[in-house]
Amino acid sequence: MILVTGGAGFIGSNFVLDWIAAHGEPVVNLDKLTYAGNLENLRALEGDARHVFVQGDIGDQALVEDLLLRHRPRAVLNFAAESHVDRSIHSPGSFIETNVVGTFRLLEAVRGYWSGLQGEEREAFRFLHVSTDEVYGSLAARDPAFSEENKYEPNSPYSASKAASDHLVRAYHHTYGLPVLTTNCSNNYGPYHFPEKLIPLMIVNALAGKPLPVYGDGQQIRDWLYVGDHCSAIRRVLEAGKVGETYNVGGWNEKPNLEIVHTVCALLDELRPKAGGGSYQEQITFVKDRPGHDRRYAIDARKIERELGWKPAETFETGIRKTVQWYLAHGDWVQRVQSGAYREWISKQYAQAA
Ligand code: NAD
Ligand code: DAU
Repeated sequence: MILVTGGAGFIGSNFVLDWIAAHGEPVVNLDKLTYAGNLENLRALEGDARHVFVQGDIGDQALVEDLLLRHRPRAVLNFAAESHVDRSIHSPGSFIETNVVGTFRLLEAVRGYWSGLQGEEREAFRFLHVSTDEVYGSLAARDPAFSEENKYEPNSPYSASKAASDHLVRAYHHTYGLPVLTTNCSNNYGPYHFPEKLIPLMIVNALAGKPLPVYGDGQQIRDWLYVGDHCSAIRRVLEAGKVGETYNVGGWNEKPNLEIVHTVCALLDELRPKAGGGSYQEQITFVKDRPGHDRRYAIDARKIERELGWKPAETFETGIRKTVQWYLAHGDWVQRVQSGAYREWISKQYAQAA
């Protein structure tokens, strides 16, 4: 079996669902269930013995040690993190706690467990760390896309905390020989994306008749990858990645934010026309920019394609249509995640930005 951390979040829950569908291999899922963790994402696995859920913190070393000894996983995949840049600007503390200290404690527990393994079990063991393209900083318009050789230049508390965790993972390989793999992926989108992030926030606000808040001039560029493609890349890296290496994962889909918002509006105009006529685009509102906002990210994903034969299956057009359709069909999921804590965040963030 494998141990996944953060498997009740957006990417983690997609990964767990896809993994069990693709492999059938059991998963122990350790998640703290912060505001971003949602067991409802895993409802399809209720009563399925291949999914063992444990509520807990990756920073609880004794708990992780106990789980490792009891379940003896062949791999640990670390998705758990505080993941939202805007929240890291308001309150960086939890980002340092989970992304830096938590990853350190997790690595310590895993190092102890791995040191006790022998023979084939030790040979086959892997620690896969899920990271982000944001560690590389920001690109100018004509710069080449981020390759694995780019230096780290994180600009937000979030990306700095992820960069620190990547460095710890690297050091545990270099110093102790821990068999690690790291993936650095671009912006994901798809089902179960928490509606604090750009794409789901735009869908949810559009349908609710609320403003669609675009930061600054809306010309910041991100490289978008459908979440199912990120999950397939992680499975491939786990299966065939070279120990100690990092792999950049991206969709070759660089797009300015404003274009993303226009695309979402056009799909909603087609699939759920506004009752009173007109376009959802009329709800677009330009608001104050994010402090220190990175202008452009772009991923050069040639290494993972060349060495591991991985390529995304979805184009942006197919992926975004599926995503909008998923949100339209899952209004009940959206309603339930819009808890008190969510509403509090939205009023804090957008009262200041307007
Ligand atoms: P998310 O915020 O949706 O989910 C994070 C999950 O981790 C939640 O279920 C939360 O409860 C859990 N968690 C948080 N702190 C924890 C702790 N201390 N112990 C145990 N569990 C804890 O995040 P996501 O978007 O699914 O991102 C998953 C990973 O992928 C993160 O490491 C993130 O940095 C990385 N990543 C995300 C993207 C993206 O576009 N979302 C892109 C590249 C990389
Ligand atoms: O690049 C990978 C990263 O992508 C991940 O590591 C992060 O975990 C993930 O949250 C995401 O970070 P971003 O900051 O790029 O994602 P977000 O959805 O918050 O914002 C995307 C872009 O849209 C960004 O340029 C900011 C802008 N934006 C965002 C929100 C929430 C707006 O213009 N308006 C908004 O209301």
